[in-house]
Amino acid sequence: MSGQRRSVILGTGSEIPSKVVTNADLEKILDTTDEWITVRTGIKQRRVLEDGKGNADMAFQAAKRALEDAGVEAKELDAIIMGTVTADYPFPSSACVLEHKLGARHTFSFDVNAACSGFLNALAVADSFVRNGAIRNALVVGSDALSRLMNWRDRGTCILFGDAAGAVVLGASESGNRGILSTKLRTDGSYVKTLYVPAGGSLKPARLETVQKNEHTIVMNGKEVFKVAVRAMEEISRQALEEAKVSIDEVALVIPHQANRRIIVALAERLRLPMERIMINLDKYGNTSAASVPVALDEARRSHRIQEGDVVLLTAFGAGFSWGAAVVRF
Ligand SMILES: CC(C)(COP(=O)(O)OP(=O)(O)OC[C@H]1O[C@@H](n2cnc3c(N)ncnc32)[C@H](O)[C@@H]1OP(=O)(O)O)[C@@H](O)C(=O)NCCC(=O)NCCS
Repeated sequence: MSGQRRSVILGTGSEIPSKVVTNADLEKILDTTDEWITVRTGIKQRRVLEDGKGNADMAFQAAKRALEDAGVEAKELDAIIMGTVTADYPFPSSACVLEHKLGARHTFSFDVNAACSGFLNALAVADSFVRNGAIRNALVVGSDALSRLMNWRDRGTCILFGDAAGAVVLGASESGNRGILSTKLRTDGSYVKTLYVPAGGSLKPARLETVQKNEHTIVMNGKEVFKVAVRAMEEISRQALEEAKVSIDEVALVIPHQANRRIIVALAERLRLPMERIMINLDKYGNTSAASVPVALDEARRSHRIQEGDVVLLTAFGAGFSWGAAVVRF
């Protein structure tokens, strides 16, 4: 019997750069301590993409693993949608660079700029193309190298972020009740300057002066981000669950954006979920922006924390502010 057309996650993959920067390394260049960073954020180390490599190099590795896991070949892909704010070039998109690296031949490809919720935005767009019948297979990527936007003298930001890429392959399915059950997205542009990079865009293009003033690096009001993030992720998670007609008790695992352990703990408390049902890997990688959710999803699958039939809630929050949630049955 054929049912509702849905997109199913056929495979996942991730790529973590090999260069490790520990809290002890940061103690050497900043007025900070391993204890402060650990207590305030839960982060112990982060990874940095090596010089000479771009975001699409990481994305390529993650995508290859996701395709292999899915048993899908690049030439079978109809679309590549990548969440990123650190594309290889101002234009064209990193998704186009990735398409060429993969040897995909029959796709349309583009980037989605939604900062840390970039993967969820990309997933929601790909899911709607699949559900409305426009495409069958899509590669959805979250990949960021925020190290490229880091002010290594600002202890309020550079301790938090790391580089990584994660990917999923979506395929259309007309049978059963597996797949993406709902997606929800929101933004609030009144917070643009609460978390942003002041220069390098059309308003303030790159000039000698902008470089000298360090305006190509992240500026953030961390306290404000913290406060809104918890509330926003709780609210949108509940909305996504309601739309999916799934109760919070049925959720086997929550995969939240990996920004700060305290944000995640506060979210779990508000959702009244025990920490055993929350995926956390930020101690190893820090906040990897758009890569955070797909990397954690890939780790959860490969370590068998997700079983067939499990309902998983994904949620993320980031600059914009932009946030989202998705409910998936595996
Ligand atoms: C950034 C963040 C860790 C700061 O933690 P906090 O508890 O809010 O700390 P505050 O900013 O109030 O700073 C408290 C003190 O610690 C100091 N401090 C800040 N960073 C420090 C560091 N790395 N090491 C030591 N001290 C630090 C501050 O200067 C301040 O000192 P003061 O009291 O003498 O002024 C926290 O606000 C956060 O994680 N916010 C969310 C950010 C985020 O997730 N952004 C990305 C979203 S996608």
